[in-house]
Amino acid sequence: MVHWTAEEKAAITSTWAKVNVERDGCDALSRLLCVYPWTQRYFSTFGNLSNITAISGNPKVKGHGKKVLTAVGDAIQHMDDVKRHLAALSKSHAQELHVDPENFKRFGECLVVVLASRLGAAFTPQVQASWEKFINALVAALSHGYF
Ligand code: HEM
Repeated sequence: MVHWTAEEKAAITSTWAKVNVERDGCDALSRLLCVYPWTQRYFSTFGNLSNITAISGNPKVKGHGKKVLTAVGDAIQHMDDVKRHLAALSKSHAQELHVDPENFKRFGECLVVVLASRLGAAFTPQVQASWEKFINALVAALSHGYF
């Protein structure tokens, strides 16, 4: 189980209070689909993903980005038990969706970039360190159902 200091928890929850799950979810998922274009193969029903304008304006990307960031927000509510909290989602990504777990890391990187661009100077190195730790815990929890 991951141990969190009070400062780390405060950094995560105070950042999250500034997140707009629809806008920022769409931005993070759009970055994933643009920077790592082979991830588009999981979203073959989403229609036009040919360039960043098409991707970020695609209503299915917007809807799915919101779904994913809502799940991240729920995980923040369960930081002390993130592995158990995400067990079912991990199993579905492994056994039904067949998502390569490397992609969780890539999505985490994209999310950190979006948070940094939103927060500017408030995204201090300490805040970033807390997020890197949280993303690692999230990725480990989502990858757990593969083993
Ligand atoms: C579906 C969360 C990363 C591919 C979902 C759903 C959630 C979710 C909540 C909806 C499940 C449901 O409705 O039962 C997350 C979280 C992630 C993550 C929290 C990382 C932080 C990824 C990545 C990929 C991916 C990196 C692929 C590159 C999919 C696909 C679906 C899905 C293909 C089904 C989409 C559909 O057909 O509607 N995910 N996901 N996920 N996820 Fe993820």
